[in-house]
Amino acid sequence: MWPHDMATGSSRTVDKARAPDAWQRYADSDCPIVTQWDDGAHNGPEPGRSFSSSSSMPSLVFSMLADLDVREGQRVLEIGTGTGWNAALLAHRLGAGNVVTVDVDGVVAATARAALRRAGLPVRVLHRDGYLGFPERAPYDRIIVTCGVRDIPYAWVEQTAPGGIILVPWGTYYGPAEATARLVVDEDGRSASGPFTRPVGFMRMRAQRLVRRQHAAYVPPGAMDRAEVSFTSVPATDLDGFVMGLLVRDVTHVADRERDGGRRAVWLYGLSDTSWAVAVFRDGRKEAKVYQSGPRRLWEEAETAHQWWKANERPGYERFGLTVGRDGQTRVWLDGPDHLL
Ligand SMILES: C[S@@+](CC[C@H](N)C(=O)[O-])C[C@H]1O[C@@H](n2cnc3c(N)ncnc32)[C@H](O)[C@@H]1O
Repeated sequence: MWPHDMATGSSRTVDKARAPDAWQRYADSDCPIVTQWDDGAHNGPEPGRSFSSSSSMPSLVFSMLADLDVREGQRVLEIGTGTGWNAALLAHRLGAGNVVTVDVDGVVAATARAALRRAGLPVRVLHRDGYLGFPERAPYDRIIVTCGVRDIPYAWVEQTAPGGIILVPWGTYYGPAEATARLVVDEDGRSASGPFTRPVGFMRMRAQRLVRRQHAAYVPPGAMDRAEVSFTSVPATDLDGFVMGLLVRDVTHVADRERDGGRRAVWLYGLSDTSWAVAVFRDGRKEAKVYQSGPRRLWEEAETAHQWWKANERPGYERFGLTVGRDGQTRVWLDGPDHLL
């Protein structure tokens, strides 16, 4: 296992055969534990490049189960089996026959299936893409998703009973920040709506990882000299995060680490074309210099979003929510489903 230190963003290797006591201590501790790297392509004891399966942090699992609010006799579909631990908790509460879990990775699914059987909880574990749900056993009273989603499939609404709950870590391609959306399916079973309940950070659903063009495709040599130049007084920290991602669409945000002389660049890359913008912040200066280029004026889009945010009393994630409509489209709202963004 590779317990993950959230503060440093690093993972260490703990070998059960060599250090069984440490292994057990980590298994019982409140930290996320990476169990697979690089979609299984990585072998050996050292951490790989990017984690692709894990046992989630127990306190987060418990908070999500509290949001899920399961009752006796209910049927649950979990998307993202991982180790099978969350499925085991659900099976302990509801009975193994009422829980189905799916994982896109065949090795992960088989390992979890065996672990659940050893624990006396023979949950149905399927190797398949959770984007499709599992219509064969629908309707479910609850769907709980344990990987990060950027696009909610309408199949999940169709497969949840009226009044049922879909709990899903959701975010935008703006950055890694996510929050769980707790969507209640309408009485007619054709739409679902609800607020964000807590900030989270999950590994992304496989097909929804961000793939963007290389930096040089946006900013070829000499492009900075030809770019439009302006100045901004929007603080760099206001541009980070979940809420800006709700407001600035089809954009991804990359903040450089602080560099020599206290210079820090914040880049915006368009996802619909090769428009780009960069603001260069320097310690001690109130204004940052902005360069932008392309059919979209990305910095102006970000400034407009920032003004809207200030005019609405700087709302945090908890004032927003999502509706998946009858047309299958997901829309964001502020302070209730009647106020779509
Ligand atoms: C954070 S782990 C899940 C933790 C797990 N619930 C537990 O209790 O250990 C995320 C899992 O989502 C799976 N996953 C990623 N994309 C998926 C998809 N499209 N369908 C189903 N599972 C997916 C990954 O293979 C990974 O095992």
